[in-house]
Amino acid sequence: MKNMNDYNKLLSNNKEWAKELIGLDEAYFTNLAKDQKPEFLWIGCADSRVPAEQVTNTHPGEVFVHRNVANLVVHTDMNLLSVLQYAVEVLKVKHVIVCGHYGCGGVKAAMGNADLGLINKWLRNIKEVYDKHNYELKNVSDETKRFDRLVELNVEEQVKNLSKTTIIQRAWSNRDLPHLHGWVFDMKTGIIKEVINIDANSEVEDIFKYTFHTDEEITNSSIE
Ligand code: CO
Repeated sequence: MKNMNDYNKLLSNNKEWAKELIGLDEAYFTNLAKDQKPEFLWIGCADSRVPAEQVTNTHPGEVFVHRNVANLVVHTDMNLLSVLQYAVEVLKVKHVIVCGHYGCGGVKAAMGNADLGLINKWLRNIKEVYDKHNYELKNVSDETKRFDRLVELNVEEQVKNLSKTTIIQRAWSNRDLPHLHGWVFDMKTGIIKEVINIDANSEVEDIFKYTFHTDEEITNSSIE
């Protein structure tokens, strides 16, 4: 089969990698298999050039990872919400990071007018970000700069979207964590730029705020 060697290479790489780690620490995988206690949830782009662990120089077990096209936090996306709930409520991560990247194909596509089929619906979320920041963006005449800025604004809006979820707000009221962060990775330099930080318990716009009842209040109200 054509290209079978490329494919088999991955499996032989895997064997070498495992052997190398066992060489350094015989119990490496036995320990890895015991538990996971990651402090970070990474929500990144599916782009092959932005691997969460490599760009942060972290190891298996350190980062819980979710990736999709253009690192979006969509409030009806069961996949993202399930990952978020598990990471926040069970793993109790301390930080949630949304990491975008300059040159993002998803953001670029959203800036255009081509009909791309199903993905139109996904990219629509980025068009909404563009529309929200239209005043700023329309004043950036250089197209590359406008593209870069939209990448940053998209990350900011996704971090804000996290703060609008009951998952995050409930965690803030229960344990003053996690902190939310928005980053943009520059693949031309390998360096990450911080674009937004929202500390736990930061103010959320009124319309997106939820109030939570204690278990006691719920019990009392069901008696009435
Ligand atoms: Co991308």
